[in-house]
Amino acid sequence: MTHHATPAPRSIPGSPLFEARDIVAGYGESRVLHGATLRVGEGETLALLGRNGSGRSTLLKTIMRLIAGTGSIMMAGVELARAKPHEAARAGIGYVPENRAIFPDLTVRENLSIGLPQRHRAPQAGPRGPQWSEDEFFELFPNLKRRANVAGGVLSGGEQQMLTICRALMGEPRLLLIDEPTEGLSLAMIDQVAGLIREAARRGVAILLVEQKLTIALDVCQRINVMGHGQIVFDGSVPAFQSDPAIRSEWLEV
Ligand SMILES: Nc1ncnc2c1ncn2[C@@H]1O[C@H](COP(=O)(O)OP(=O)(O)OP(=O)(O)O)[C@@H](O)[C@H]1O
Ligand SMILES: [Mg+2]
Repeated sequence: MTHHATPAPRSIPGSPLFEARDIVAGYGESRVLHGATLRVGEGETLALLGRNGSGRSTLLKTIMRLIAGTGSIMMAGVELARAKPHEAARAGIGYVPENRAIFPDLTVRENLSIGLPQRHRAPQAGPRGPQWSEDEFFELFPNLKRRANVAGGVLSGGEQQMLTICRALMGEPRLLLIDEPTEGLSLAMIDQVAGLIREAARRGVAILLVEQKLTIALDVCQRINVMGHGQIVFDGSVPAFQSDPAIRSEWLEV
């Protein structure tokens, strides 16, 4: 069989950078998502809110193809519905999971270099996001620089979170999914994490942020989606969200 070079896919004009449509997914017999539809535009920052257990992490895992689901997942013109996780990454999606998945025995520097796109192994499926260098991160976060040669496992929780986001950015994503990055962090570290997300957005990376702290979500993001009953029950701008207190009482407050 001959292998043909696949042409770089282009987005369909007028379509968003990313769209997950009618996603149904869950664990074994139990369904969590009942037809969730969500879009993120090029360079847009979207916060995904919802109560604990509403299915926000499940949606991110489905997008990354870590759990099975039905529906359509389009990234920059590539259908990922039946793709493997590495194909989602190749299509330009970066992922920062809930549990700060750094490699504890590798140094900070080694952890960062693992995020680099493996160009020699697999050509990227389409245009990449902005390029990042280790030095840039070290300039932004002198703490990481000081600890460049220290094992990732000895960093504080906040430093590990920063490192996880930096490593994901090293992969040059056009869209970065970030799951509850500020959970359990000190106020000072929360500021740093929010600053890093803002910097990524400033450089044109689209952001899908799951965040429990409303102030951070509203501060970092332009648009809000709220998840309830396994679907998106609100989609609107930050001002639209703020002028609708019923959304909060019905879907967010406990
Ligand atoms: N690995 C799993 N196996 C079985 N059920 C799971 C698993 N992970 C999550 N669930 C269930 O799926 C539902 C949605 O969980 P999910 O983690 O997506 O929620 P969430 O909105 O991210 O909330 P939080 O992060 O606050 O828990 C919950 O009822 C949860 O108990
Ligand atoms: Mg979660």
